[in-house]
Amino acid sequence: MSEVSMNKATTTGAPEPESTGEITRRRFLGFLFGLATALGLGAFVAPLARFSYPVLKGEVFERMLVANTTDLEPLGEGVKFEYMDVPCHLIQEEDGSYAAFSMICTHLGCISRWEPERAVFHCPCHAGEFDPLGNVVAGPPPRPLDKLTLAVEGENIYVEGFAQQEG
Ligand code: FES
Repeated sequence: MSEVSMNKATTTGAPEPESTGEITRRRFLGFLFGLATALGLGAFVAPLARFSYPVLKGEVFERMLVANTTDLEPLGEGVKFEYMDVPCHLIQEEDGSYAAFSMICTHLGCISRWEPERAVFHCPCHAGEFDPLGNVVAGPPPRPLDKLTLAVEGENIYVEGFAQQEG
């Protein structure tokens, strides 16, 4: 079937102009625009979904060595690390136990940081704050920081995954 025989009425009832090189180019550009939009949306939505729902049932977590117990002291500097592309921070709690949290703020996803001099995780975007256990103590975050599962073997501290969310 030739392009000329595909000449149809448009939704307004007016006949569509005959197919020409111009129309073909326009359709091709439209296709490219649609493809670029779809790829752009995918690139934006995929990481957002991952950050919003980091604990997915069935997700396979890697085991990763993050620190030596001798690197830490109660409510000290702790250790910054990345786990599965998520910025995280490991600290030693006041009671001597260890805890690691995702630094992605549970409000709108800004990156929080551990401030040992005040013993809080601080989010610079809207002044959200979390105590050393990850609980919200100030600002708009709706829930605690996401916690990681740790294993301490001898002096080695391993991260084994994201802890299951409560509630
Ligand atoms: S994004 Fe952290 S307080 Fe708003």
